[in-house]
Amino acid sequence: MCGIMGYIGDRPAAPILLDGLARLEYRGYDSAGVAVAHNGTVAVRKAAGKLARLREMLEREPLPGTVGIGHTRWATHGQPTDTNAHPHTDESGRFVVIHNGIIENFLPLREELAARGHRLRSDTDTEVLAHLIEEEYRGDIVEATRRAVSRAAGAYALVVLCAHEPGRIVAVRMISPLVVGFGEGEMLLASDIPALLPHTRDVLVVEDGELVVLTRDAVRVETLEGRPVARQRLHVTWTAEQAERGGFPHFMLKEIYEQPRALQETLMGRLDGPDSVTLEGVHLDAAFARSLEKVWITACGTAYHAGLVGRYLFERVLRVATEADYAHELRYRDPLVEPGHLVVAISQSGETADTLAAARLCRSRGARVLAVTNVVGSTLSREADDVLYTRAGPEIAVASTKAYLTMLVGQVLLTLHLARLRGALAAEATRHLVEELTLLPRKVQEVLNHPAPVEALAREIACCEHVYFIGRGLDYAVAMEGSLKLKEISYIHSEAMPAGELKHGTLALVTPGTPVVVVLTQRHVYEKTISGLQEVKARGARVIAVAYEDDPEIEKHADRVLRVPRTHDFLSPVVSMVPLQLLAYWVARERGHDIDQPRNLAKSVTVE
Ligand code: AGP
Repeated sequence: MCGIMGYIGDRPAAPILLDGLARLEYRGYDSAGVAVAHNGTVAVRKAAGKLARLREMLEREPLPGTVGIGHTRWATHGQPTDTNAHPHTDESGRFVVIHNGIIENFLPLREELAARGHRLRSDTDTEVLAHLIEEEYRGDIVEATRRAVSRAAGAYALVVLCAHEPGRIVAVRMISPLVVGFGEGEMLLASDIPALLPHTRDVLVVEDGELVVLTRDAVRVETLEGRPVARQRLHVTWTAEQAERGGFPHFMLKEIYEQPRALQETLMGRLDGPDSVTLEGVHLDAAFARSLEKVWITACGTAYHAGLVGRYLFERVLRVATEADYAHELRYRDPLVEPGHLVVAISQSGETADTLAAARLCRSRGARVLAVTNVVGSTLSREADDVLYTRAGPEIAVASTKAYLTMLVGQVLLTLHLARLRGALAAEATRHLVEELTLLPRKVQEVLNHPAPVEALAREIACCEHVYFIGRGLDYAVAMEGSLKLKEISYIHSEAMPAGELKHGTLALVTPGTPVVVVLTQRHVYEKTISGLQEVKARGARVIAVAYEDDPEIEKHADRVLRVPRTHDFLSPVVSMVPLQLLAYWVARERGHDIDQPRNLAKSVTVE
């Protein structure tokens, strides 16, 4: 995710762009830049770091001009540096672009451009677009943009400014959001409505596959093929704060609903076919993969729960002994980590102190450290040997949701990659897993489309004092995360355990009416879990099951059932976790808590 802003009118552009970017900073904040057209040229100022650096730069070297574009970045390709910050230009500096999203085929495009003599300066996927537009320019920036984007694949929003035609801004939406704002004698453009609200409440939402041309007092909308599109403008009544959350009352809910999109991003450009996975920052080779004898997964909190899923996948698919350990435990237990071992360190922020310390310790013992992280340029990503970015986009709510789901899918990709290198998975099994993987965004969306049963259940259990979560295998991993989600924002005491463990002690706490959530998707242990469920039912527990939609048995055993679409059993956590995220959210809301910033917690724990 990145934030995009554009202005064309009679007022100085730079302050308007800066103000808009400040309102879009929740979409990304690792670098920022603006470009302003003036006297036949377009000047660019950009800087890594927070917007404040760009602001200072503009105070020192102001940009006059009343037409401009601005960008706040959440890096996906290339570290957050001054050079990689947007805007990007062709070599002449006449064609200037900003971009949100991913250009999937940027590598072949880069090579083609280099072969034709272009010199690209950054590591970004964006820069190729400026060069393509320059190649395609024959006096009309709209046509040049149209031709250039026809060569780019991916999901993105693109904005173009041309020194030869400063009277218009051209933008294209291909999945990533873009909104046009109507002012008095001025037009604006942004990734999201909040950036527009100080100037106008009249907006037009650009749709996928549309190109817009902004002039001072009008907008033209057309398809990428050039057919005109008639579109009504909308009048927005949101406050700026509501709008920043996309109309959702809390960032957590917004982030839960962003998950289908986030998963698409995680997968994008990484599955070249049924048996080829491309992971850009992962450089493991067949020799390493074949001789691999041990994998250590280390993380904290939600990331650790994602790691429990990874452990299961690595062992089942790769047949490599795998341990998952809390980073704060691993670092102090003198682990038997050796050269040739692979350590997978998982962290949304890439800044969690314990995870960094555990990764450093393992690296100092000769192991190869692979980071699974959401933040490009984070400490973990810089210190690791290999990096797999999850591409969830900025996660603002303290309770992690979309970061978790993308960590799961990231680890499935890693498993497939290693399986191919080790020759560990038969072609047919790979194909089936890949097929199901690509269906996950849609299946998660299906769960999100039917929140009513979860909301009703939340009202029932909001007044309970204790809730237990059980499951076996991958379902146990989900039970752990479901329990953490509930306790951290609802403040209800909850515990998770393997379904087989309950009878060894915790069953004593189950009294009539105690809610017990059982996650029940794993075919090979289904009957066993049902037995555990019967044990709690016999003690009067209120049994809530998360099960596949076509499970014919479950209604007989559970008081409430939350249904999820069937998928490959290895992928079930991705769908079965979603109702539990919603449950935690709705219980916390029912209890009137501060959902995005629960008491005593912080988003990143950068101290031991
Ligand atoms: C859970 O919702 C939390 N926000 C927390 O457990 C988090 O997952 C943990 O602190 C690790 O953070 P990281 O992924 O940024 O390393």
